[in-house]
Amino acid sequence: MASRKNDSKTTRQTTRRSFIRTAGAAAGAIAASTAMPARSYARVLGANDRIGLGMIGCGGRGRYTLTQLKEMQDAGTNIEIVAACDTYRPRLQAQADLYKAKPYADHRELLADSRVDVVSITTPDHIHGYQVIDAVQAGKDVYCEKPVTHWRQFELTKRMTAEVKTSSRVFQLGSQGMSNPAWQQGRKLIADGVIGQPIHAECGYFRVGDWGEAGMPIDDPNAKPGPDLNWEAFLGDSPKRPFDVSRYFRWRLYEDYSGGQATDLYPHCLTPTLFMLDVDMPASAVGSSGKYRYFECKEREIPDTANLLIDYPEKITVVVLGTQGNNFFGADEMGSVGRAPTIRGWEGTLSFTRTEIIFTPAEGSKSKPQRWPVPHAEDLKLHYQDFLECCRTRKQPRSHIGLAFRTQTALQMGVLSYRHGKTVRFDKEKQTIVV
Ligand SMILES: NC(=O)c1ccc[n+]([C@@H]2O[C@H](COP(=O)([O-])OP(=O)(O)OC[C@H]3O[C@@H](n4cnc5c(N)ncnc54)[C@H](O)[C@@H]3O)[C@@H](O)[C@H]2O)c1
Repeated sequence: MASRKNDSKTTRQTTRRSFIRTAGAAAGAIAASTAMPARSYARVLGANDRIGLGMIGCGGRGRYTLTQLKEMQDAGTNIEIVAACDTYRPRLQAQADLYKAKPYADHRELLADSRVDVVSITTPDHIHGYQVIDAVQAGKDVYCEKPVTHWRQFELTKRMTAEVKTSSRVFQLGSQGMSNPAWQQGRKLIADGVIGQPIHAECGYFRVGDWGEAGMPIDDPNAKPGPDLNWEAFLGDSPKRPFDVSRYFRWRLYEDYSGGQATDLYPHCLTPTLFMLDVDMPASAVGSSGKYRYFECKEREIPDTANLLIDYPEKITVVVLGTQGNNFFGADEMGSVGRAPTIRGWEGTLSFTRTEIIFTPAEGSKSKPQRWPVPHAEDLKLHYQDFLECCRTRKQPRSHIGLAFRTQTALQMGVLSYRHGKTVRFDKEKQTIVV
């Protein structure tokens, strides 16, 4: 087993001067990611080796993930939080101090740290794709938060997918709901022909509140770009704009950095739906959206209601519905923030509750109603465990890159459709989105 010495706190603490130096280097690092140094080669992880983890992004999700990882470590999972990165120094320093991790202002410096075997990417959406590419090129396995990219970054999504595949690094998308074994069973039931030819699937995400956007905390209303905050690295490939404290801390309100609920929330329900249907790329998508409840927030650019119709060449329509104005989710007992898929086939329908998969025959079908018990298990720790196991076995995790690519392309098409007010198609030959 490779043992890892704990650096002393003094050597791990970033000084203001070192942050200035690395923050300066990180400016423009995101957009320049294609110019990464030659590929690095990773340590081959044995079954008993301790996995060194680097957290990129120490905001809300990064902090929560670290608490979960620490609990996993305390319960016996052989990992160690060895490094952290953030473009806002106070957040970085707090997490680095808490976990005695080495702080980095620039993700590329964290990637060059040989103690880091795997990275968690929990930065804003528009930064993910570049950091994933940099990470796999640096020989690191990646757990990347959903959405895998931003709604306007289809070409980047394609490039990132190719990079991950050629790198043979392990990649898990952070759609933790995929840890629910119901989806594996649903996929098998569909493949076994229980519902006949699938024709229609419905899923969605309903909740009340704009706390996820307008409610994001502004840590310091007087924060300014400089030694403690790297605005350029935050902007990445988004339009260049003068610093705006709300844009930095409440980025989910703005289209430059967020796709609203379509890309923020729908990966949670669409990933299992596409996994069960086992469909390839979409043929077309139609979307509608609006600001129907939270229209008074003047900074809010993204909708609070979005509905997408996605058609597949396999002759299946997938409907993704949702609003943040009401959280009723039907009588499916799946919890107040989700809407489990309903999958209809020529012979019958599969619906999913917290405890069961239910088969209801279609009119005229000779099949009998059936129910199968399922242990409901949507959990970040289980999803992370799957990722860490795959880092050791080199197997493909549940939310693998191909599934992440197909899910994100469908969502990008839906967003482009409602933004342009027209049907958006996918050109299979050219592997491109046609608006
Ligand atoms: N799976 C889930 O259920 C779930 C839940 C919440 C958030 N998320 C995802 O996690 C991601 C982060 O969300 P959040 O709520 O933590 O946002 P946040 O704003 O709280 O955190 C993002 C952090 O990234 C830092 N950052 C910005 N640009 C950076 C860069 N170039 N390099 C390094 N650090 C940079 C910011 O300073 C900030 O601290 C989002 O993509 C979000 O969709 C997933």
